[in-house]
Amino acid sequence: MSEQQPIIRFDRVTQQYDQDEAVLKEVSFEIERGKFYTLLGPSGCGKTTILRLIAGFAEPTKGSIYFNGALINQVPAHQRQVNTVFQDYALFPHLNVFENVAFGLRIKKMKTAEIRDKVLEALKFVNLSGYENREIGEMSGGQRQRVAIARAIVNEPEILLLDEPLSALDLKLRTEMQYELRELQQRLGITFIFVTHDQEEALAMSDEIFVLNGGVIQQSGTPNDIYDEPINRFVADFIGESNIVSGKMKQDFVVEFAGAQYECVDQGLQKDEPVEIVIRPEDMEITTEEQGKMQVNVDSQLFRGVHYEISTYDDAGNEWLVHSTKKAVVGARIGLYFDPEAIHVMRFNETEEEFDKRLEAYQEAVHAD
Ligand SMILES: Nc1ncnc2c1ncn2[C@@H]1O[C@H](COP(=O)(O)OP(=O)(O)O)[C@@H](O)[C@H]1O
Ligand SMILES: [Mg+2]
Repeated sequence: MSEQQPIIRFDRVTQQYDQDEAVLKEVSFEIERGKFYTLLGPSGCGKTTILRLIAGFAEPTKGSIYFNGALINQVPAHQRQVNTVFQDYALFPHLNVFENVAFGLRIKKMKTAEIRDKVLEALKFVNLSGYENREIGEMSGGQRQRVAIARAIVNEPEILLLDEPLSALDLKLRTEMQYELRELQQRLGITFIFVTHDQEEALAMSDEIFVLNGGVIQQSGTPNDIYDEPINRFVADFIGESNIVSGKMKQDFVVEFAGAQYECVDQGLQKDEPVEIVIRPEDMEITTEEQGKMQVNVDSQLFRGVHYEISTYDDAGNEWLVHSTKKAVVGARIGLYFDPEAIHVMRFNETEEEFDKRLEAYQEAVHAD
């Protein structure tokens, strides 16, 4: 953890509407100043709800929200140093670009000259200098997006919330805007909390990702952490391609799956406990039948530019997808090699918080012996 106070802290925040199942279930996390965060998860998992709570558009049913260490559960939206860029941009169609960006400053009754300076500065930041007098209807999707961002940053917020701001754009523009947003965040140095259901977008843009499902943070970490060490099937499946099979823990560092026992790096599970095994396709290499840790039949092969995507089956009928720079022969019997570190052993549906607690308890028990 950093020495600095987190800019936002959620402490066991629950959000529930009426008697329905809670939308957020005791969610805890910390946001550090000046970083790019992404909330990633499928539709309905609670991403927008978290943004609404940070912005002050809703109050949590239970739990505490802190801003720079101060409890803000009751602080109204307009008193928070937070601005939001909405999915549909919510621009005023009857106002031109300048007036859209100036709107919040006029409400604050700022002086005309000061408004002018700030608006021009904000438009410059998003590469829209010279567009002040354009009507919103004359702007392209990407340009409207930038007006919406200028309107948010002109208020000099400490945190910018972005709720799926790229989802309405076509693929090429979306990729461009990903670079632009990332670069803008670094230039401004303010904290961005970005929401998406697109895993590639999250991996490309973020310093830190929170993976959400069913109102629970499944895992948090850098893009590399999340990709390389998925905590459970949901995360492994949602982020990247994975081989996922069921198995059984035999003892610390030994796991059984696909009819054989393998050395792994996991510990702290029960003997014979059912587990799920994940191996990333790029962590498997094809070998001769004798040299492999596992023997499989090659079912099909696609050239993907950098690597071959090879689909194989073991004798138990499990599919193993392999990304390899080596070419295989369809129909051949081959071996697959993988390191103990490539095997991710996971408890069913275990979240990162539960994992950390389990391992801590296990380490204490081991050291107590
Ligand atoms: N005001 C509300 N009243 C009742 N249910 C709501 C309300 N707002 C959101 N929900 C429900 O909360 C869940 C999470 O919504 P949301 O945070 O918008 O998800 P996401 O942004 O991840 O798609 C959804 O099931 C949604 O229907
Ligand atoms: Mg949403």
